[in-house]
Amino acid sequence: MRVIAFVTQKGGTGKSTLAASLAVAAGEAGERVATLDLDPQASLTHWGERRNAESPMVDRTTPDKLSAALHGLANHGYSLTILDTAGIDSPAATAAMRSADMALIPARPSLADIEATKPTYAALAKLGRNYAFVLNQCAPQLKSGRVADASKALRLLGVLAQPLIALRADHQDAFALGLGVTEHDPEGKAAEEIRGLWQWVHNKTKG
Ligand SMILES: Nc1ncnc2c1ncn2[C@@H]1O[C@H](COP(=O)(O)OP(=O)(O)OP(=O)(O)O)[C@@H](O)[C@H]1O
Ligand SMILES: [Mg+2]
Repeated sequence: MRVIAFVTQKGGTGKSTLAASLAVAAGEAGERVATLDLDPQASLTHWGERRNAESPMVDRTTPDKLSAALHGLANHGYSLTILDTAGIDSPAATAAMRSADMALIPARPSLADIEATKPTYAALAKLGRNYAFVLNQCAPQLKSGRVADASKALRLLGVLAQPLIALRADHQDAFALGLGVTEHDPEGKAAEEIRGLWQWVHNKTKG
């Protein structure tokens, strides 16, 4: 079973939003998906409560129980677990980083967000974990100077996942309805980007 963790000490970068839509997109691509919410704020758990669909399985856990929870999911035949964490340095974030085959660090295209990724990627590098940045909430005209500068800055710090994810109302609407963007508007651009992101993560983490 693969484990993907959304981590970064900066709040509001899109961890829960991307975790939800990526979980749905991975399920549509054939994975058997669970999500585990390690954030006491419980955004992803509340998203799950708004859903009617059976997949992904949405549950919460705490850092001391994470390892056992992942073993249990693997034994039950799940092929992918996506972890969501709080936007602060916490034992839960450390536990998630340790467990993940790949940690995804969302950042908005701003200097403040990019600077704020440092403690997270430094911790991941120290743990020897695989990680990638996800540039999220980009102005929809993705070629704007700020987006290009942010991409360049993140590529200097590590790997930048593809594609970049634009700021689109679809993400906010889908999350509010307990949907992934690929369920909310399957033909939309947000859906296309999230399917692309799953394809990228899949290719980078497949055995
Ligand atoms: N690509 C996007 N397009 C539009 N809105 C987005 C996008 N990604 C995230 N958002 C919005 O940004 C806000 C923060 O997103 P989210 O709650 O997913 O961040 P987070 O990193 O989980 O925050 P926290 O650290 O508080 O848990 C939300 O209002 C969400 O709807
Ligand atoms: Mg969150």
